[in-house]
Amino acid sequence: MSFNLRNRSLLDLIDFSPREVLYLLDLAAELKRAKAAGTEVQRLKGKNVALIFEKASTRTRCAFEVAVHDQGGHVSTLDSVGTQLGHKESLKDTARVLGRMFDGIEYRGFHQSVVQDIARCSHVPVWNGLTDEAHPTQVLADLMTMAEFAQKPLHELSFCFLGDARFNMACSLLVGGTQMGMDVRLCSPAALAPPAALLAKMRELALSTGAKIRCETDPRRAVQGADFVYTDVWVSMGEADAVWQQRIEQLLPYQVNRSLMEATGKPSSRFMHCLPAFHNLETEQGRQVHERFGLSELEVSDEVFESETSIVFTQAENRLHTIKAVLVATLA
Ligand code: CP
Ligand code: NVA
Repeated sequence: MSFNLRNRSLLDLIDFSPREVLYLLDLAAELKRAKAAGTEVQRLKGKNVALIFEKASTRTRCAFEVAVHDQGGHVSTLDSVGTQLGHKESLKDTARVLGRMFDGIEYRGFHQSVVQDIARCSHVPVWNGLTDEAHPTQVLADLMTMAEFAQKPLHELSFCFLGDARFNMACSLLVGGTQMGMDVRLCSPAALAPPAALLAKMRELALSTGAKIRCETDPRRAVQGADFVYTDVWVSMGEADAVWQQRIEQLLPYQVNRSLMEATGKPSSRFMHCLPAFHNLETEQGRQVHERFGLSELEVSDEVFESETSIVFTQAENRLHTIKAVLVATLA
């Protein structure tokens, strides 16, 4: 299977057809094998890539940087410290400047409309490195990881996301899972249910991909038979400090702990998280939350996070291979 994705932007997974997503996953697997074997062919020689971060990042930033280096290209990282970004120059103006110098731009920030503006103004491929609404490169890595661990085609697999289903991770997992024809469950309190418009669109897409989509409020029912149990932080980057108390009250029943993993009824079921995760008190934020609310773990118990069922670090590694696939497919 070969597709021409050259010069395409990845602003949301929905920009790509299910076959194009499968192609990117195949290419990522090929690039992963080549890197391990020491046979990687550099296809981004002479290419310059800009990375813009309006929010913090470890995995996405490093995955883009290493992917470009591995492929022989050059990368420049911009944030609000030490550039004109945000203080003196709008993103639209910055995008027009960067488009004259770089072959492609990664953007992480707040609203989806901003990454769309950057793509429109820069006239080069733009890749969404996370917005409030979408995290497409994360979900490519997640789909790759699920396929690796299950050794089955994605359309035979099920996953259950638990947490704030209005936000980026749940939305992009819903899109990716639907495109791949999976059994998709999103479990949250009704107040944190996925956006109705996206759900309607995915239900329509599911008619052609064969996906099953279920929105649940009962975590134990939602995870029954799930191959993968997925969660994310309860308060995302950019959200107000004031939301913590209510969010904890809303989501505490949705914590992924041993009892919930057992409720899958499937000993082979795996735990997934995009990371970073709140599972102990080894972070400043963890200690602050502990001081305010007396909790030492939130969306996932330390026991599950550290258990054999947890595949979170393979997900993190696969960010590199999938982002590299996106770069090679759209730039090389
Ligand atoms: N999962 C993820 O996007 O991690 P970073 O915020 O560290 O990039
Ligand atoms: N929902 C999280 C995902 C982090 C990768 C956030 O936006 O902060």
